[in-house]
Amino acid sequence: MSAPGHDHAEKRPTVLLLSGPNLGLLGERQPEIYGTETLADHVGRAERTATRLGVELEHLQSEHEADLVAAVHRARGSVAAIVVNAGALSHSSWALHDALAAFDGVVVELHLSNPDAREPWRRQSVLAPVADGTIAGFGGLGYELAVEAAARLLVGRNDGAQGA
Ligand code: DQA
Repeated sequence: MSAPGHDHAEKRPTVLLLSGPNLGLLGERQPEIYGTETLADHVGRAERTATRLGVELEHLQSEHEADLVAAVHRARGSVAAIVVNAGALSHSSWALHDALAAFDGVVVELHLSNPDAREPWRRQSVLAPVADGTIAGFGGLGYELAVEAAARLLVGRNDGAQGA
């Protein structure tokens, strides 16, 4: 029940979706691995899932590690969860690892493909140790699963996500 003077809708928790290098080429890039859907298609799926589960979705794509690190810094204190498909930076960016380690909210690592079934260098994720969990190998469905995982973990942490 709302307290007097607080009967406006409560602010929905925000889930920040971060997309790393080359993901803007989805749809054209190696469709045999990544499918024919574009990044906009995946963001649309993530948005619909967020709406269904009562969370807000924000999205940022960048080719630049520094932009992604800065977005994680900005998220501190204002964003409840981060879903991150960092592309190849997943396998190399200790800077992104350290930024995520300094973020208090939920972190879900996401990949369209299953990196464990690919080249050996993709089998290490430097982000996995600072993620609550990883969703990989389900193509575009992973965007729905990752947002759902984030929203449901938020409920578990009593951060106020509705209906997850
Ligand atoms: C990816 C997997 C990475 O290994 C790769 O560098 C990408 C995409 C995926 O979504 O499957 O750019 O993160």
